[in-house]
Amino acid sequence: MSFDVIDPSDDWPEEERKVRARRMAMYSPGAIAIARDVAYKYILFPELKTALASFDRVYQLSRELGIPQGVLLSGPPGSSKTSIADYFMRSLPPTADIVDGFGALYVRMRPAASAGFVVSQVLSAVRHPFTIVRPERMASMRDIACEAMLHKGTRILFVDEAQCLAVRGKERSLDDRDTSAGNLLRELMDRANVALVLLADHRLQHLERVDRALADRVSVRLTLAPFQNDGNWGAFLGEFSRFKVIDLSSLNETSVRAATFVATAGCRRSVKRLITEAVLVAVDDSKTAVTRAHFRLAFERTSGPGNVTPNPYGES
Ligand SMILES: Nc1ncnc2c1ncn2[C@@H]1O[C@H](COP(=O)(O)OP(=O)(O)OP(=O)(O)O)[C@@H](O)[C@H]1O
Ligand SMILES: [Mg+2]
Repeated sequence: MSFDVIDPSDDWPEEERKVRARRMAMYSPGAIAIARDVAYKYILFPELKTALASFDRVYQLSRELGIPQGVLLSGPPGSSKTSIADYFMRSLPPTADIVDGFGALYVRMRPAASAGFVVSQVLSAVRHPFTIVRPERMASMRDIACEAMLHKGTRILFVDEAQCLAVRGKERSLDDRDTSAGNLLRELMDRANVALVLLADHRLQHLERVDRALADRVSVRLTLAPFQNDGNWGAFLGEFSRFKVIDLSSLNETSVRAATFVATAGCRRSVKRLITEAVLVAVDDSKTAVTRAHFRLAFERTSGPGNVTPNPYGES
């Protein structure tokens, strides 16, 4: 369907009028550029430093001692699980016996994934040219995956959405040890001496009930929670006010901090979305500082008209 937009206040030619009407709801390229700078900033608060220290430990030990090492990092949506793995991988310094970029690998599970699915994901992470794993070739493809990780010097494998391990396919049972994804992960730990970091929501907190042998190898348990409305929350928001690209010092005001907590419930994803939107609004309002009114409009836009919660930044 094509709308013929009528705005009586302008006298642009027909085509130009349509384009302008469509662009009304869009931010300017300048606003996007500044917002992108804010959106890509990553803040290392204390729990993330603890997680990084654990990753460093298993990364260092996995190859050296022949003892399987693993970490289970649990947290609700938006609590920094995927992004901290990403940060770790990007910040790894080059090491002599590791092929650059392959020291840490990342795969993402899906519900009721089979061992073949994991092998295929690993093969794609090591950039193997063939990643389709047919049942009759499972054993040889699994060997190729192990060899590739040993050859590239891989020391750590991040498995995201690992709660999928707790969801079994119809034809699998709890003690189906040969074909399960869990069994395959154990094999990678034992044969390729790779440390395992499982990133999961609460459904994998009782890993021993899902796979006792895997739980036995993955000894470190960490939890990431949303922020409470306390000093850590203040410190996190305070970091945004140090950004040079735009003045976000309003986040240091007690009332704006409190309203931002109500708006986001301390969830990192929600905070990032809201602050980034407020930056877009402020830049297109031709301001160099983000104010409470910008946050108010940002909340309105990111929560939509169907949202019934009162705007925590007040009514306009
Ligand atoms: N420490 C941080 N500093 C700045 N932004 C962050 C931080 N942690 C998370 N974020 C923001 O929150 C978003 C969500 O984080 P992330 O993807 O790591 O959550 P998650 O725990 O993996 O969530 P899910 O379970 O839904 O996959 C990130 O894309 C990023 O924009
Ligand atoms: Mg994630």
